[in-house]
Amino acid sequence: MQTSSATQPNTFAEDVRRGLSSEPKFLSSKYFYDDEGSRLFQKIMKLPEYYLTESEFEIFSTQTKQIYEAFGASGAEFDLIELGAGDGAKTSVLVEYFLKQKAAFTYVPIDISEEALHFLTEKFTVQFPNLSIQTERGDYFRALKTFKSKSDRRKIILFLGSNIGNFGRQQAQDFFASLRAAMNDVDRLFVGFDLQKDPRVILRAYDDASGVTAEFNLNLLTRINRELGADFNLSDFSHYASYHPIEGAARSFLISRKVQTVSIKTLNESFEFAAWEPIFMEISQKYNPAMIDDLARTSGFQIAENFFDGKNFYADSLWKPA
Ligand code: AVJ
Repeated sequence: MQTSSATQPNTFAEDVRRGLSSEPKFLSSKYFYDDEGSRLFQKIMKLPEYYLTESEFEIFSTQTKQIYEAFGASGAEFDLIELGAGDGAKTSVLVEYFLKQKAAFTYVPIDISEEALHFLTEKFTVQFPNLSIQTERGDYFRALKTFKSKSDRRKIILFLGSNIGNFGRQQAQDFFASLRAAMNDVDRLFVGFDLQKDPRVILRAYDDASGVTAEFNLNLLTRINRELGADFNLSDFSHYASYHPIEGAARSFLISRKVQTVSIKTLNESFEFAAWEPIFMEISQKYNPAMIDDLARTSGFQIAENFFDGKNFYADSLWKPA
C-alpha cells in the first residue's frame, strides 16, 4: 500500500489535475493513505462488513503448516519479503510458526511509509527477539531492485490483503511481470485475492453502515484541501459504492451533490462539477479461480498451490516462475 510521505508533491498535484480534468473525473486510490487515511483503513479492517481481513487471517492461522511446506521454508536460507507490509498482522502468524520450526530466514518488510515500518519493527522485535529483520523503505520496485543486489538468498515475496484489487487487469499483469523479472526460478510469490461471492456481501464491505468507508473516501478531498490548498466542501459530496457482478469489480465514487466549482491554489486552477457528477475513486477487483490462473500465466508464473478460507471468500495463491 502506498502512503503520502514519499510521494513527491508535484506528482500528487499533477495526478489530481489530470484526474479532475478528465471525463469522467477520477482520483487515484493510491493517495488515500496519508496518516488519517491509514488510520481510517485500520478502522475499516475492524468493521463487521469488511470480511477480507478475517478471511485471510483464517487462511494464515489454520493452514500455517501447509503454507510453510508449500514455501519450502525448511530448506535453504531465504528472505521473506513483504510488499506493502502495513501492520504485518497476518505475517506475524507465519513468522511465529517459521521461527518455531527453526527456519533460516530474514523478514524484509517493504513499505513506502516510514512510520508503518517503524511501528512494525518495534512490534516484531518485541514479539520475536530472534527474528532477523531488514526493512526497505520506498516504492516496491526500487526496494526490490536494491534488495536484489544486496542478497542472493532465495526470495519468498508476499503481496497480501487483496492490494492487487486496486489494479486494473493490464496494470496487474504488468506489475506481476516486473516482479517476475526480479525473481529466480526457486523464488515464490504469494498473493492475496478477494474472490467473487454474493454481490450483496461484497457491496456491504464497501458501503458499511457506520460510514467509515465514506469517510475514507472523503478524506482524500480533505488531503487535497490541506496539501494543495483546495476548497472542497465535504458535505457537498457523497460516497457511492457499486458492485458489477459480470466484471467482478467493486467501485467507489464521490458524487457532487450540486453544481459547484472547486478551486485548487497549488494548481492555479478551478474545476467545475455538474449536479450528481461522479469522481471515480477506487476499483477493488474480485477474482475467480480462472481469472487468477489467467493472470498468473500471462505474467510468467504458474500456480503452485491455492489456499482458501472455509467460506471460499478469499484465496492466497502461491506462484512459481513458469
Ligand atoms: C487495501 C486495497 C485491499 O480495496 O478492499 C477498503 C482498500 N477501500 N475499503 C480494498 C479499501 C475501501 C482495500 N485494499
